[in-house]
Amino acid sequence: MHIAVTGAAGKLGRAVVEDLRRAGHVVFALDRIRFPDTAAESTVIDMTDYGQVVEAFTGVDARPRGIDAVVHLAAIPGPGLAANAALFTNNITSTYNVFSAARLAGITTIVWASSETVLGIPFETAPPYLPVDEEYAARPESSYSLGKALEETMAEHFARWTPDLSIIGLRFSNVMDDSDYPGFETWQDDPDTRSWNLWGYIDARDGARAVRLAVESDRKGADTFIIAAADTVMRRPTSELITGRLASVERWSGLEGRASLLSTGKARRVLGYVPQVSWLDRI
Ligand SMILES: NC(=O)c1ccc[n+]([C@@H]2O[C@H](COP(=O)([O-])OP(=O)(O)OC[C@H]3O[C@@H](n4cnc5c(N)ncnc54)[C@H](O)[C@@H]3O)[C@@H](O)[C@H]2O)c1
Repeated sequence: MHIAVTGAAGKLGRAVVEDLRRAGHVVFALDRIRFPDTAAESTVIDMTDYGQVVEAFTGVDARPRGIDAVVHLAAIPGPGLAANAALFTNNITSTYNVFSAARLAGITTIVWASSETVLGIPFETAPPYLPVDEEYAARPESSYSLGKALEETMAEHFARWTPDLSIIGLRFSNVMDDSDYPGFETWQDDPDTRSWNLWGYIDARDGARAVRLAVESDRKGADTFIIAAADTVMRRPTSELITGRLASVERWSGLEGRASLLSTGKARRVLGYVPQVSWLDRI
């Protein structure tokens, strides 16, 4: 497939471009900063400018045409990285432009980055049950997360307008790569440091595999999937982490050993996503 990847120069984007290319896809890398790898065709664009996004999907001179699918990762990737309104405007405008320009260009496969934050991060209100999954309504607690929750709703409406559209939102956990793993040791004495996201993470390579499975899936309609590692960022057993306000939360299953409190059961069942990387094997 010819696949446009937005946010291609970012942490997840670089892993996604590499994985898609290795699988034989032709990648068109889009970002507002220069894409560092000359192995993929790239164009510098600002996703908040609708005209630039339409052109990227329909034909920039000397760049790939006939885009079959879009992987949309471009965003400011977390609360606090820009002022709230600026972050919200950048992210939600970019996502509207991608969904709308794809529709105009007749592109019916979109995979995009939602976020674990919609599950209720930083969990000052305890989740309804553990492990958390996709079955309860979004609980955004920041402007960043509000944007992602609204983008999930936007995706549902685009799917309603275009019945043959496949629009899959991946609720990534905190994206990590090998350079981050030594730093995990500093959290081991104080589990509270990482309680805000239930001690979750996702290796960028596993995130990229999830993107590819979603792009290659033949599902139609809008859907969301939690994408996380199988384990937590902690060495101690998960059951020892469930203290304080989490202690009274109903537990469904799957908390053996160091099992993640972010369920990837739906992604496993529907997309065939199986996390392969544990940070413990990488340090
Ligand atoms: N990093 C995480 O822990 C995390 C967790 C959950 C979800 N996500 C989501 O995953 C996606 C990728 O995150 P990442 O960690 O690779 O972030 P990143 O900051 O490394 O990469 C994001 C890229 O998007 C580009 N970008 C931002 N706004 C743009 C715009 N208006 N036009 C063009 N390019 C623009 C940036 O230049 C950057 O290269 C984001 O949508 C983010 O919200 C990230």
